[in-house]
Amino acid sequence: MATDKILYINATVSNPSRTDALARYLLSFLHGEITERKLTDLSLKYMDSAAISKRNADISKQDYSSYPLAKEFASADIIVIAAPHYDLSFPSLLKTYIENIYVIGLVTSYGADGRPVGLCHAKELYYVATSGGPLETRFGYDYIKALALDYFGIKRCELIAAENLDIYGSDAEAILEATRDKIDHLMK
Ligand SMILES: Cc1cc2nc3c(=O)[nH]c(=O)nc-3n(C[C@H](O)[C@H](O)[C@H](O)COP(=O)(O)O)c2cc1C
Repeated sequence: MATDKILYINATVSNPSRTDALARYLLSFLHGEITERKLTDLSLKYMDSAAISKRNADISKQDYSSYPLAKEFASADIIVIAAPHYDLSFPSLLKTYIENIYVIGLVTSYGADGRPVGLCHAKELYYVATSGGPLETRFGYDYIKALALDYFGIKRCELIAAENLDIYGSDAEAILEATRDKIDHLMK
């Protein structure tokens, strides 16, 4: 049987990071070859005018040689994203990563009716988040889920979250332990 390609998109910033620790706990249940992309180490740049023009030209020539991260994302069997909750959403690095991998012809295409047809191979995407207060999923997880299911063609999306970690009086370690228990239950 072929080995699963597991892509770990590490969008954490702090060191140590509780989100990264939870994601690594989840990864310990997955079997396959793990490739980690630590976004703080990638020198990703937002899509400026020159990058957009180049990408449009490349897409029209079907020249995908400049987009290894997009190819890696499209060909992964399982994707794990670690993203702490920042300002109602996730760190801007993750949005920059998405801008960089969003290459029509690799991760998605559009049908004659203008609707997206996902081209990604992954059977599942796990989104691991932690938050200081209650987790508001609308602009973080729900956005990634919509992209994954509706645009990228990923079959299943799962949220693993530890919330209220920074609220005065919270027992952060107990919340993290309960979240690890949920991961045990989900992955067994
Ligand atoms: C820049 C920044 C923005 C944050 N924004 C929020 C927020 O909007 N809502 C919230 O509940 N927690 C917020 N937090 C708290 C973090 O989500 C929380 O401490 C999280 O566990 C940090 O994860 P980490 O240990 O993986 O870095 C923020 C923290 C930082 C550093």
